[in-house]
Amino acid sequence: MSASEMPKFSEERLAEIDALVKRYPSAKSALMPVLYMAQQDFGYLSMDTQQMVADVLQLRLMEVREVVTFYTMFKEQPHGKYLLEVCTNASCMLNGADELYAHMKEYLGIGPGEITEDGLFSIAEVECAGACAGAPVVQVNNIYHEKATAESMEALITKVRAGEAI
Ligand code: FES
Repeated sequence: MSASEMPKFSEERLAEIDALVKRYPSAKSALMPVLYMAQQDFGYLSMDTQQMVADVLQLRLMEVREVVTFYTMFKEQPHGKYLLEVCTNASCMLNGADELYAHMKEYLGIGPGEITEDGLFSIAEVECAGACAGAPVVQVNNIYHEKATAESMEALITKVRAGEAI
């Protein structure tokens, strides 16, 4: 990738980051919120995007990678506009998460790491989402859907495809 093709934060974003960094004792403390911004702006955190974040915060790429690879909410691969993260840990598994995950993969016609043809959906199996009382839990982008069922997830997918807010 040439320098001109490298991802770049907008001027507005850079100003936002500048203001954010000033609130912390060091630029490194702003790493997680800046990674969130990068993920929001570029969809996922490619290696070039991680390098850009490192450059903006004057960190080493390894310092950025340590955070990106530790937290599951940071995505290194492209995914659909809506990422359906199905928790299959103990509480969710006991409440039908395995069956729900299998159903949703079949319903969408994709497996983990894939994107539906319309670019709207990807699916992933994740560890405990920390909302066990609502098992089974499906996180869709930043929103938790508790007591999820095949019907409720199909309804959500239908709404998204119809262009409705979820
Ligand atoms: S086991 Fe699924 S939210 Fe905890």
